Amino acid sequence: MDTKIVEIDGESLDLAKKIIKNGGHVAFPTETVYGLGANALDEAAVDGIFKIKGRPNDNPLIVHIHRDYDIDRLVCDVPDYAKLLAKAFLPGPLTMVYKSKGVVCSSVSCGLDTLAIRIPSHEGAERFLKYVDLPIAAPSANVSKHVSPTTAQHVYADLNGKIELILDGGKSSGGIESTVLDCTGAKPVVLRSGLVTREMIAMVVGECGEYIYKDGQKALSPGMKYKHYSPKCRTMLFAFDEWKKAVDEYKNSTNCGIRTFILCDEQTAKLTGVDNILNLGKNEQEIASNLYEKLRESEGCCELLIAIAPQKQDGIMVGVMNRLSKACRN
Ligand code: TXA
Ligand code: MG
Repeated sequence: MDTKIVEIDGESLDLAKKIIKNGGHVAFPTETVYGLGANALDEAAVDGIFKIKGRPNDNPLIVHIHRDYDIDRLVCDVPDYAKLLAKAFLPGPLTMVYKSKGVVCSSVSCGLDTLAIRIPSHEGAERFLKYVDLPIAAPSANVSKHVSPTTAQHVYADLNGKIELILDGGKSSGGIESTVLDCTGAKPVVLRSGLVTREMIAMVVGECGEYIYKDGQKALSPGMKYKHYSPKCRTMLFAFDEWKKAVDEYKNSTNCGIRTFILCDEQTAKLTGVDNILNLGKNEQEIASNLYEKLRESEGCCELLIAIAPQKQDGIMVGVMNRLSKACRN
């Protein structure tokens, strides 16, 4: 199969709609990362997503809809706090988990009685979802466990020959996946941290819990238990306070002839004084937005990647640290 990369216009949207209606797969941009979309009402198409990605079949998918799609068609028991949060943050990088009405294929939620819904704000995603006007099941458009894609070229590198079409909407500005929020209980609980932070949610509705997955436990958000976001080279992660140790490690391995790079933000790069830097940028937004791009870049240039955690550990850095520690889990 030939995988086409096309800009989003009337013609490519027509083609995308045809492919989706015929049970095929279309990658599309969102403000977080690119998604691998299929019709959530088509069992074979949804099963295809798991096969294309090599995704474990107990890791449920998010359903993407446009802002005018009536979520009451898909889910029930939407609590008042969720309505407030939707008003505050949607469209945007917040996925909300509700009780499912069982309308979409059961393989979307891997047999759970809940359904994760996301309304992306990226203009290209909105146009695609509006044009197709179907609930679109879409995980990140990468091979399972690999780094998530923030450009059409990243998608192509992972899925060339496996999907029909990639809609190119430029670089995803957010850079890390949406916050996943459980909205089935008395208060919201963050299952996966992201750009809409726990603090931001608590500001709107007063309180917000956080689910912390422990190895061996039954996972509320099954995706959290898998190794993820990993570049195809050896990796190490150091806390910010240990940056001197990271530099020692860099020097040792460079002296042994191992191509080594340090991944860190701009200020930390200056502290280290080393040459081989993958620079994540100056501020929180840049760090989140560049993280996956730099992890992918590391695969082309180094045998050992040494990451130094950002100094700041709250806000959207919670989500960044979650990804960074999974990427560097060997
Ligand atoms: O930003 C994003 O969320 C991107 C873009 C494409 O929208 N999508 C994405 O999908 O990151 P994926 O499949 O890579 O991650 C989905 C996460 C997983 O951690 C999964 O376990 C969780 O959402 N999830 C999906 N349905 C769920 C449900 N019913 N209950 C709990 N967690 C759920
Ligand atoms: Mg993913």
